[in-house]
Amino acid sequence: MIKDWLRGVQDFFQGRNGWPLRRVVLTPRRGDFGQLVGCKGHEPLLWLVSELSSPKARYAELLWKAINDRVLHCLLETVHFPWINQEDTPMFVAIEGGEGAGKDLLTERLRRVCNPSTTVFTREPGGTPTGEKLRAVLLDPETDMGAEEELLVFIAARTALVRQVIRPALAEGKTVISNRFALSTLAYQIYGRERNDLLEFLRQLSERATAGLPPVHYVLLDVPPEIGLRRVKQRNDGETRFDAEKQAFHERVRAGYLQHYMDTNYGMAIDARQSPEEVFEQAIQRIRQWQQ
Ligand code: TYD
Repeated sequence: MIKDWLRGVQDFFQGRNGWPLRRVVLTPRRGDFGQLVGCKGHEPLLWLVSELSSPKARYAELLWKAINDRVLHCLLETVHFPWINQEDTPMFVAIEGGEGAGKDLLTERLRRVCNPSTTVFTREPGGTPTGEKLRAVLLDPETDMGAEEELLVFIAARTALVRQVIRPALAEGKTVISNRFALSTLAYQIYGRERNDLLEFLRQLSERATAGLPPVHYVLLDVPPEIGLRRVKQRNDGETRFDAEKQAFHERVRAGYLQHYMDTNYGMAIDARQSPEEVFEQAIQRIRQWQQ
């Protein structure tokens, strides 16, 4: 059986296939790809070949594209597609981590595999017209701001985001995925700025800003600052007020994240020194578990 599949793959890549994929109707149904959970390496591809050659192939158009692109990770993302957002269960996920941890990349990949009608993507600071204006001020290296003002402005942006975007989306049963959320404030404004004295103040403000939200599932991308900051430099897309902080600041931010991760049970930590594909695979597996 496996030999047949392999021969099929070989034929396919050499252009000798005869599968009538283009005419297959796309009618995704829940759970069809469940058997792929936990598959490693080439197994999804083998499964895919068997699926394609079967008359009941339903995702053939998508799968065809994936193979045609000859990009395995694209293929894996495609076959993951039906796993995400099948239920109308509201869920709130926040992607967290220090500079250069790969949050943008992971969020972008998740965006590609999530159903846009049941998932809302957002970011912090930002995500609302007011929040985006505050973001510009917060990130501008020219801004002169003390720790208290900084904390208050982050909370102001968050309050707007929760009221205008997050709460309404969750109330409609959607999944919300935010690039950063409240854990950033703990890591940066308390640990990074060494302002433990503001902790109680932050706790009270946060309670108001996030009242009524379900527990946040955190995906923490952990990377040593020397690696993260090097990645940021390589991106060469301008330094923010936070990128410009010394490495010691970023070490404290990282320690804050890890401390919170060890103290609570609200998420997962991923070693973000790994490739973006590996990070994505681990994140998506866990998000899927949270959804069940
Ligand atoms: P951004 O360019 O989005 O950074 P990154 O790509 O690393 O996410 O800028 C957001 C910056 O704001 C980032 O340096 C972390 C900082 N920040 C805080 O200090 N406190 C917070 O509560 C939040 C949400 C972000």
